[in-house]
Amino acid sequence: MDFNDILMDIKPERHEEEKIQSLSKIMINYINELAQEKGINALAILVGSVAKGTWLSGKADIDIFIHFPLETPLEELKVKGLFLGHQCIKKMKGTFEERYASHPYVTGHIQGYDVDFVPCYAIKTADDLKSAVDRTILHTEYINKHLQREQIDEVLLLKKFMEGIETYGSEFKVGGFAGYLCELLILEYGSFKEVLEASSSLWKSGFIIDLEDYGTGVRFTEPLVVVDPTDKNRNVAAALNIQKMSEFIVASRNFLQDPKTSYFYPLSCYCNNKDIEAVFEDRGTKTILIIFKPPKIPADAIYPQLKKTEQSLESKLNYDGFNVINCGSWTDESGIAIISLELDVWFLSKYKKHVGPKVFSRIHQERFLDKYNQQAWVENDQWVVNVERKHRTPESFLEDILTPENIHHLRIGKHLRKEILMDHKVMGINEFLKSDMCSNETLKFFFDFLNPGNHLHR
Ligand code: CTP
Ligand code: MG
Repeated sequence: MDFNDILMDIKPERHEEEKIQSLSKIMINYINELAQEKGINALAILVGSVAKGTWLSGKADIDIFIHFPLETPLEELKVKGLFLGHQCIKKMKGTFEERYASHPYVTGHIQGYDVDFVPCYAIKTADDLKSAVDRTILHTEYINKHLQREQIDEVLLLKKFMEGIETYGSEFKVGGFAGYLCELLILEYGSFKEVLEASSSLWKSGFIIDLEDYGTGVRFTEPLVVVDPTDKNRNVAAALNIQKMSEFIVASRNFLQDPKTSYFYPLSCYCNNKDIEAVFEDRGTKTILIIFKPPKIPADAIYPQLKKTEQSLESKLNYDGFNVINCGSWTDESGIAIISLELDVWFLSKYKKHVGPKVFSRIHQERFLDKYNQQAWVENDQWVVNVERKHRTPESFLEDILTPENIHHLRIGKHLRKEILMDHKVMGINEFLKSDMCSNETLKFFFDFLNPGNHLHR
């Protein structure tokens, strides 16, 4: 397969490259001059994919790291670093959002670009590490030193392929491959195709890649281990979960068997609410949604809480005798969060059989009969009794458990708990699809819910 057409599309053109480089230079010079003027001992430099030449056309986020000497107190670094970032955004007439990684940083929206201003320590080696973001400069240096010019195209193809099959991004929302990880995979295997071939035939759970032969890979327990060439104590693939690793392996095999350009582009989903409703109808299941407002916390904190809550609801419902065959969650991170539970058992008998003690223990029999009186009977050597269920429908179960008295039965993040208790709705899928909450994004979520893995083949 000829990748030239795709590269034409994803490789930044000369003018985009010049624009982004000159904009970065202007901002960096401004910060460095301002720091000098104010007597702040700090140095701004360009890092991330723009500094490495590995950004996808039209998708550049500019990463500017503001380095302070190692002896700077953390508080001072935060205050002064954010000050310099804010001043620069103001100067460039941009808007801003404060965000948090391991410590605060500020993102500016400047001339159509997202620019991250991240205060950090100027470390020389990983031994000096004070916070996770400090490594970034070492990463940038390593990639610039080792990645051949021709290999930049290979990185771009790999990133774009991963985007198309929805495995790109190390944030919790995705749990996939970071940009730096893609670069290291190209260094290890040489080219885009060779990465796909290796993942298709070599990778298994716990697979280790160790470019600098540190021998520390065995210390990690994640599904894929890529020892950071700049820090033997870090696994660059730590954020990659087994689901996304498996999806990448499967999509690689699919692609190698029948390569198509469309793998590099998002799967189009022409779905409307009528189609989605018809598919749910055809399945003969019942799908119930819990809808609430997402808490105002960083996106990386919302997703794990959402997943945990979804799984806890699934297991409680199953324990009570309902049967959840499919569950998922989605949020726009500001106005609405949805947990979706699809059941193939959703109406239960009034009574359920409850097994008691063996008949051989007189004392246990007495206790059992005190509680259940003459309704109990013997089956083989065991007492059994019919007891009335508390909930015969999942709706009744959910309304009962999502209350201040009972919510502690769920494993649920504290921010989510607060929001759910404040307000939530339990509704059926059909009601939702007819409501004004239904948007193109939620339709895409339900399309994926009904067709898991559809993005892995074309
Ligand atoms: N980084 C990291 N691990 C992560 C995320 C980020 O080590 N899980 C570091 C890397 O050094 C990365 C830098 O932070 O280069 C900037 O992060 P990001 O913008 O997410 O990655 P880029 O490499 O710039 O890739 P792109 O923006 O093209 O996705
Ligand atoms: Mg970046």
